[in-house]
Amino acid sequence: MNRREAAVECVSLTHVYPDIDGADLTALDSVNMCIRAGEAVALVGPSGAGKSTLLTLLAGLTRPTSGQVRVVGQDVTAMSEGALRRLRARRLGVVLQTPARNVLPYATARENVQFAQRFTDTGRAERRAEAVELLLTVGLGDRVDDPAGRLSGGEQQRLAVAVALAGRPAVLLADEPTSQLDRETGAGVVDLLLSARERRGTTLVVVTHDRHVSDALDVAYGIHEGRLERIQPTTDGAPS
Ligand SMILES: Nc1ncnc2c1ncn2[C@@H]1O[C@H](COP(=O)(O)OP(=O)(O)OP(=O)(O)O)[C@@H](O)[C@H]1O
Ligand SMILES: [Mg+2]
Repeated sequence: MNRREAAVECVSLTHVYPDIDGADLTALDSVNMCIRAGEAVALVGPSGAGKSTLLTLLAGLTRPTSGQVRVVGQDVTAMSEGALRRLRARRLGVVLQTPARNVLPYATARENVQFAQRFTDTGRAERRAEAVELLLTVGLGDRVDDPAGRLSGGEQQRLAVAVALAGRPAVLLADEPTSQLDRETGAGVVDLLLSARERRGTTLVVVTHDRHVSDALDVAYGIHEGRLERIQPTTDGAPS
């Protein structure tokens, strides 16, 4: 693959959590991965496999023990905290696994979305309309003026997706964004992610345990005990 096309790339990425008793835990072990701009990738694997660790490393929220992460051409492993904050605010959308960690609890749903829009190259009226449209699309049309902290876990999860897309990111990194949703609502969230890809070429990296979600994306990478393997989709969409 042409390196310039890569939206997300890891080289020999390893992450070890030190243990106070001296038994270190290798959560990710020499992961190499290259995701093209506009690709929609699922990260699947059992609980504890290292999926969230990988996602937080891609988002520059954790520093790896060794190896490199490049996102939209930038080496996130070598960036300052300030540069990482700017990169996340302008180019990345991040949905963390715990819904409440993605929202400002005392701000309303609308304010959360509008805050995420602050660096987009759009006028005020367009932003306002887009914020309401995003909230309607995730089924929060009647909760726009409610503080995010008063929303349920599933509602916060949907708000988190709206917030992550509001900044029109080049890359969306989402950790189990449908885990608290019923199948129909989850399918609506996946449609929204795919429509961002369709409209703006957003690269999607989605951790999921849900086959309905992974089957809707281009390819799935399996993670087992910190190691990455590619699962080839078969013609009927099921992993081989
Ligand atoms: N902050 C931490 N300190 C120590 N160990 C950690 C820490 N975070 C994760 N781990 C360990 O690293 C391994 C991978 O965890 P991770 O959260 O990446 O798994 P996961 O694939 O996201 O699992 P799940 O599907 O349950 O969310 C697990 O064994 C976990 O116990
Ligand atoms: Mg996880």
